[in-house]
Amino acid sequence: MGHRDVLIRLLPVALLALSCAPSAPRIEPTKPESDRSGVELGAAQIERVEAMGLPGALGPDPSNRFADALPAAKLGQWLFFDTAFSANGEISCATCHQPERAFTDGLTVTQGLARGIRNAPTLLDVAHQTWFNWDGRFDSLWSQSHGPFSHPREMGGSLAAVVERVRTSPQLAVQYESIFGPLGAPPLTPGQVDLAIANIGKAIAAYERRLVTGPSAFDRWVELWRAKGSPRRLDLVENDGFSPSAQRGLDTFTSRGLCWQCHVGPLLSDGEFHALGAAPRGDLISDPGRYGAIAPLKSSPFRSSGSFADNPDSERARVVDALVAHEDQWGAFRTPALRNVARTAPYFHQGQFASLEEVLRFYSTLEGAVTMDHHRESVLRRRDFSAEEMADLAAFLRSLDGTDPPRKWLADPWTTHPK
Ligand code: HEC
Ligand code: HEC
Repeated sequence: MGHRDVLIRLLPVALLALSCAPSAPRIEPTKPESDRSGVELGAAQIERVEAMGLPGALGPDPSNRFADALPAAKLGQWLFFDTAFSANGEISCATCHQPERAFTDGLTVTQGLARGIRNAPTLLDVAHQTWFNWDGRFDSLWSQSHGPFSHPREMGGSLAAVVERVRTSPQLAVQYESIFGPLGAPPLTPGQVDLAIANIGKAIAAYERRLVTGPSAFDRWVELWRAKGSPRRLDLVENDGFSPSAQRGLDTFTSRGLCWQCHVGPLLSDGEFHALGAAPRGDLISDPGRYGAIAPLKSSPFRSSGSFADNPDSERARVVDALVAHEDQWGAFRTPALRNVARTAPYFHQGQFASLEEVLRFYSTLEGAVTMDHHRESVLRRRDFSAEEMADLAAFLRSLDGTDPPRKWLADPWTTHPK
């Protein structure tokens, strides 16, 4: 290398360091160009990739003894698409979780009876999670559904009115009573209403457990790669939708990108809560996230240690009872699963980012990030990705789209029946 070359190489680095003082970016060596033609995984990376394959069968949910009962799932589907539960008769769960949009609504934050404060997550593969909602406010899938029914910004009904709707709809009442037994004659006591709400939630959860996706291009590639003995060297040939660019993206994701620190395992999520500090969007205020969720979770009658859980003495119940809100959880949100992520824009809890490219730019530059508390160390380090690395990461994320659940679970059953 001549002196001139050295200068040309160092100049931009020097300029960058100057312009960003005092907090100059950490500049890490990128791989030399010649290595970009092939990729060699390290031992730790091989383990990470092996752990990212298709999730196995859903684990059981002993807190819901109807979790895998087909009649309960069918009733759950009727409940999911029923607009009669909402105060204005127009909003169902499917208004914000639309099957044709991977069970999201495509909006930054939701619009139910009023504008919401958070982005609607996908329900595809949701049953693999352990905490529900962005802040993990619910500890089971069945306890989650009473939230939207009565939330003033979402469906705005009362829980008693929800049960009354089930009791007076011939379609729903027959199914409900054949699964859970008689609802009782009105007026129902608060205890009877709560029991029915728990059962309604268990039917909806049984339905949501059917919304699992099939293999993505990435999963098909992992299977072939494992069959070859999980080789270190990736040959970077086009593989059934898993392109060379996606393979380089996988390499970055599981190494220098540091994505693997939180996006791990079959869902590409650790299921835990982290404060990344993305600035609030527009006129929204910053959201306390996990910090604000502990108290309501622990006092909910529908929590996993409560009397409506089918196994209130479980290990999980003990975990929930022992939760303590901690300052560190302020502004922390559950690491989203990344399966099907290309179909669920916009991204982050307030829909702060419109596209995967915008998300990647955030991780690269940390532009606009707010520090939660000056005593605290930032969770993220800016990654300073090259344009090629960003394109490769995006290609990898786009390879994670799985096949849809069976069609029969995507349809609104009310279209062929009177309400
Ligand atoms: C007005 C829009 C809206 C309606 C109606 C709605 N949801 Fe949601 N849903 C959301 C939003 C927003 C979130 C995230 C809430 C949060 O984090 O606080 C969410 C979260 C969820 C989650 C948790 C997903 C996860 O990954 O943890 C489930 C499950 C869910 N909703 C199911 C339902 C069901 C069942 C109904 C009907 C009873 C319903 N939703 C009605 C907007 C809606
Ligand atoms: C410290 C843990 C952590 C690391 C490291 C991390 N993420 Fe995330 N990721 C999260 C959390 C938490 C969110 C949600 C943040 C929010 O809503 O405020 C998120 C959100 C996302 C989303 C949006 C998903 C959605 O449905 O809204 C994508 C895409 C994503 N991350 C990809 C990546 C990539 C690619 C990397 C590596 C460059 C990475 N993440 C590194 C924890 C992490």
